[in-house]
Amino acid sequence: MKNKRIVLVTGGCGFIGANFIRLLNHRYPQWRIINLDKLTYAGNLQNLAGIEEGENYRFIRGDICDSERIAEIFTEEKINTVVHFAAESHVDRSITGPADFITTNIIGTFTLLENARKSWVERNSADGNPLFLHVSTDEVYGSLGETGLFTETTAYDPRSPYSASKASSDHLVNAYYHTYGLPVMITNCSNNYGPYQFPEKLIPLVLHNGLHGRELPVYGDGKNIRDWLYVEDHCEAIAAVIENGKIGNCYNIGGNNEKKNINVVEIICDTLDEKLGLLPSKAARRSLITYVTDRLGHDRRYAIDARKIAEQIGWQPRISFEKGIRMTIDWYLDHQQWVEGVVDGSYREYYQEMYGNRQKIGK
Ligand code: NAD
Ligand code: TYD
Repeated sequence: MKNKRIVLVTGGCGFIGANFIRLLNHRYPQWRIINLDKLTYAGNLQNLAGIEEGENYRFIRGDICDSERIAEIFTEEKINTVVHFAAESHVDRSITGPADFITTNIIGTFTLLENARKSWVERNSADGNPLFLHVSTDEVYGSLGETGLFTETTAYDPRSPYSASKASSDHLVNAYYHTYGLPVMITNCSNNYGPYQFPEKLIPLVLHNGLHGRELPVYGDGKNIRDWLYVEDHCEAIAAVIENGKIGNCYNIGGNNEKKNINVVEIICDTLDEKLGLLPSKAARRSLITYVTDRLGHDRRYAIDARKIAEQIGWQPRISFEKGIRMTIDWYLDHQQWVEGVVDGSYREYYQEMYGNRQKIGK
C-alpha cells in the first residue's frame, strides 16, 4: 500500500478547492488534509460546512506568499503532497487590477515550490511518494479559431494578465522538475461550473441575476466559446492524476461540452422559466439578456483535447452540460442562503465565528 498522504491543499475554501476537499474527505478518510487559504473575497469557509476539524482535516488561514509560515507547515505536518489551487482566478479582475495576480499566482507558486523542495530534500523524501500537483488552466494556450483543440503540446500563448500569471506559474513548476527533480504534475482544465462557484463568473452570475429579474450581461456578440467541465468531474480527474499520473507530466482536463456564451445564458433562462415560471411582468427571462461592451482582449474559443488523460489514466468526464447545468441550477435554488450570504458579504464573518478564538499552533 502507498504511504499515507498528508496533503496540503491550497485555496481549499474557493470553488474548486472546496469541492475537491469534499471529495477527498469522503473518498480517502485515511488521508490528512491541511487546507491553507488566505480567505480573500473568493474564499468562503461555508463552502466546507460539515467537514470537521480533527485527525483528517485542519484549516489554516494563511498566505501562500508567506514563506516562513509555509516552512512551518511543511515541518509540523510532514506534508508529502501538495495540491495547489490557490490563485486569483477571475479574468475581469485581472484586467482592472493585475497586481494581486502577479503576487499570488507567480510569487505564491514560487514560494510553495521552494518550500516543497527544501522540505523534501531535508527529509530525503522519506515520508511517502512526494507530489506537487499544480492546478492550472487551458487559458495558458491562448485563443482558438473555429477549429482545433488544445493538447498538452500546444504552445503557450497567454493573453490576459490572469492567463499570463498562470502560464508563468506553470513554467516555474516545470523548471523545478527539470532543474531540481521536484516531483511535479500539472493539470490544465477548461471552465468549471457547479456548486459553490462565486457569483462573479458567468454561470452563477446569470443564475443569480436571472432569479432576481436583473439584466444578464453578455460580453461582445455572445459567440465566444468555452468548454464546460462539471466541477465534480474535474475533482475526480485530479484524484485520478494523484493516483495514477506520471511525475513530470501535464494533463489536459476538459468536459467535451463546447458552448457559445449566449447559448449557455439562454439555457439558464429557459430552465429558470420552466422551474419558477415567468417573471412577474410575464416576460421570459431571455428578455433580460443585455449585450454589453466586450471584455478587453476577450479570447474567442477554448476547447480541450482530453485524450491523454483518458488513454493514460482512464478518466473521462461523466456529466453532460445538459445534466450538469440542471444539477447546478437545482443546487443554487436549494442553497439560496449560501448565495445571499456571498452577495451581502456576511460570509466573511464566518472566520471570526468559527476560528476567532483559536490559538496558533507552532512556534
Ligand atoms: P477561486 O477564486 O474560487 O478560489 C481561490 C481560492 O484561493 C480562494 O479560497 C482564495 O481565498 C484562495 N487564495 C487566493 N489567494 C491566496 C493566497 N495568496 N494564499 C492563500 N490562499 C489564497 O478559484 P477556483 O475557481 O476554485 O480555481 C482554483 C484553481 O483552479 C485556480 O488555480 C484557477 O486558476 C484554476 N482554474 C479554475 C478554473 C475555473 O473555471 N474556475 C478553470 C481552470 C483553472
Ligand atoms: P468567466 O466565467 O469569467 O470565465 P473565463 O473568463 O475564465 O472563461 O467567463 C466565461 C465567458 O463568459 C467568457 O467568454 C466571458 C463571458 N462573460 C459574459 O459574457 N458576461 C459576464 O458577465 C461574465 C462574467 C462573463
